[in-house]
Amino acid sequence: MNIAFIGHGQVGAPLADHLQRAGHHVTLAAKDPASASTVRALWRNPNLQVATPGTAVAGADVVFLATPFAANQAALSEVSDALRGKVLVDCTNPVGPAITHALGSAQSGTEAVQAAVPGARVVKAFSIYGFENFEDNAYPGHSVRPVMMLCGEDAQAKATVSTLAGELGWTPLDVGGLAQALHLEHMTLLWVRMVRVQGVSPHTVWGMLQR
Ligand SMILES: NC(=O)c1ccc[n+]([C@@H]2O[C@H](COP(=O)([O-])OP(=O)(O)OC[C@H]3O[C@@H](n4cnc5c(N)ncnc54)[C@H](OP(=O)(O)O)[C@@H]3O)[C@@H](O)[C@H]2O)c1
Repeated sequence: MNIAFIGHGQVGAPLADHLQRAGHHVTLAAKDPASASTVRALWRNPNLQVATPGTAVAGADVVFLATPFAANQAALSEVSDALRGKVLVDCTNPVGPAITHALGSAQSGTEAVQAAVPGARVVKAFSIYGFENFEDNAYPGHSVRPVMMLCGEDAQAKATVSTLAGELGWTPLDVGGLAQALHLEHMTLLWVRMVRVQGVSPHTVWGMLQR
């Protein structure tokens, strides 16, 4: 599969790295190929490709958005036409002062992303844990694989993202439509407050038991 990354820092770089090693053709969308995050991503995996945002998105089946939330509108505006019909995986989180929801919980960040690029098939995923778990999600000694919750309106797009999550070692869990994104964003805030404030290990994920 052809996959592009808009944003390849703490979250995007490990996901791009692992997806390339899983056999995908992964391109970093880079306005500046000499930027620090591009250089670091290529240093860890020289098999990643680099292209302008327009070229990277136009050639992709799936596009990951892993930019600071405040940069989303700017990052998306330059590729909105190229995103039409593409699966757009929103990894971003609107985190405000004192680890609150930056949109006041009135709207999810992912719904704002979907509104910015109405032609894209947006799926929120790879968002509910810290980057440490995108670097390494192996939990040896546990029989339950870590769960990756995702949501979106397009069933086929969610199936595609679920397949990618499975390839990366997650148990994908489709939690519903985009209205669920707000609740995933609050799960992120829960994790961030536990780990970054209260000192719980960042190597903490959720598992699913079902009967
Ligand atoms: N860090 C975490 O643990 C974590 C976990 C889950 C979700 N998230 C969410 O994931 C997103 C990314 O977080 P991160 O920690 O990976 O951030 P980061 O390390 O700061 O990386 C941000 C990336 O976005 C790029 N970028 C910035 N402004 C851009 C623009 N206008 N257009 C295109 N690209 C732009 C940066 O490129 P340059 O280097 O060229 O500026 C960099 O590649 C955030 O929304 C965050 O809330 C973070």
